[in-house]
Amino acid sequence: MALLISPSVLSCDFANIQRDVEMINSSAADWFHIDVMDGVFVPNISFGFPVISAITKHATKTMDVHLMIANPDQYIEDFKKAGADILTVHYEACPHLHRTIQAIQAAGMKAGVALNPHTPVSLLEDVIQDLDLVLIMSVNPGFGGQKFIQNAVNKVLQTKNLIQRTGSKALIEVDGGVNMETGLQLVQAGADVLVAGSFVFNSKNPQQTIKELKNLK
Ligand code: DX5
Ligand code: ZN
Repeated sequence: MALLISPSVLSCDFANIQRDVEMINSSAADWFHIDVMDGVFVPNISFGFPVISAITKHATKTMDVHLMIANPDQYIEDFKKAGADILTVHYEACPHLHRTIQAIQAAGMKAGVALNPHTPVSLLEDVIQDLDLVLIMSVNPGFGGQKFIQNAVNKVLQTKNLIQRTGSKALIEVDGGVNMETGLQLVQAGADVLVAGSFVFNSKNPQQTIKELKNLK
C-alpha cells in the first residue's frame, strides 16, 4: 500500500484556515489530521466543533480526527456530524475501550486508538482485530513542534508484528516530530500513515514537502 500523508491542521495559520485547507486539497496529501485537545487530558486546548465543521466544508479529503480529550464517548455523534471519517481516541482516556470502538463504528466512522509514548503496544492485543487504525504517538500529545521520541520506531515494529500475527486490517499511523529522517525510519518499520504538522507548515513550500514525504520508502 502507498504511504498516506495526513498534514496536521494544528500547525496551519488559523487566520487563513480556508487558504491552508485549499493548499492541502490540491497537494499530494491523503487525509486532514485534526487535533482536538480539551485542556484536561492534555495540557493544551485546540479547537472544537465549529472549527471542525468549517474545515469539513472546504476539505475534499478524509477527515482524520485525533481526540486528546477525556470522556470521548459523550461526543461520538457530534464528531460524526462535524464531518469526521476516522475517529481516534486515546487508550489512556477510555476505561471501556471496546465499547467506545463499537460506538464509533456504529456511528459510521472508522475507529482508531492512540497510544501515548509510555503505553505498551501489547495492551492492544484484545482489541486489535476490531480496530481500523492504531496511532503511535511519537511525542507526548498536546503540542506541535516537539522532538521525536525514538522508541516510536520500535513500537511501529511491534504493532506491525501484532497486526500480522492476528490478521487485523488496522493501519499504523504515527504522530509527532515527523520529518524526512524520522519519517524514513517509520516507513521502513512499517508505518502506513504519517502525520506531519510543523514540518509541513513551517517549510518554504508545504506542497513540495508533502510530496517528498509521500515519496518516502
Ligand atoms: C500533538 C498532535 C500532533 C501535532 C504534530 O499532540 O497530536 O498531531 O500536530 O505536530 P508536529 O508534526 O509538529 O510534531
Ligand atoms: Zn495528532
